Amino acid sequence: MKTPQTDPRSFIQMTAATGTMSSISYAEAAPAETGIINQGVSLRVNGKVHKIEVDTRATLLDTLREQLQLFGTKKGCDHGQCGACTVHVNGRRINSCLTLAVMHDGAEVTTIEGLAQDGQLHPVQAAFLEHDAFQCGYCTPGQIMSAAALLNEPCGPSDDDVRECMSGNICRCGAYPNILAAVKSVRKGAEGRPA
Ligand code: FES
Ligand code: FES
Repeated sequence: MKTPQTDPRSFIQMTAATGTMSSISYAEAAPAETGIINQGVSLRVNGKVHKIEVDTRATLLDTLREQLQLFGTKKGCDHGQCGACTVHVNGRRINSCLTLAVMHDGAEVTTIEGLAQDGQLHPVQAAFLEHDAFQCGYCTPGQIMSAAALLNEPCGPSDDDVRECMSGNICRCGAYPNILAAVKSVRKGAEGRPA
């Protein structure tokens, strides 16, 4: 027997009705009734201080891209599963899609746009170019930010250690062998260099 929940015709009618009703109520709601709360935060991004008002529900990723127009940090899954959104906060790598901007008041944030210094590519950026460690390039900012952070993390010497340390960054093009080669070359160059 078809119940109102399982009968497709009823479901479509209910969905259409609900959609219409909810759009009307949303449009008519006063700002205070939408539940949106803005809060001021100060973020130092790539060396520049930004004092901005953010929706308390806004992720750091959306804030970087939509408010600060820093589109180098990519949105892949928006669920913490691909690493495309990796940035550094106070020197540590994080998935910016999994954290709220308001949680980082006063923090130092580095994105891919801030990695090069004085016109010089970061060694990881140079290594990715040298080793041709990308195809479409969508995952590349996140891969590079992860690899740059990895230089200051405890990570074993073997290829598998590096793969494990980079495992939060997915590459749908499968450029993993070249990414591994790039990361290894920089780690080798960094041996003995002060952190
Ligand atoms: S977009 Fe953040 S982990 Fe995929
Ligand atoms: S280079 Fe295309 S997803 Fe990694």
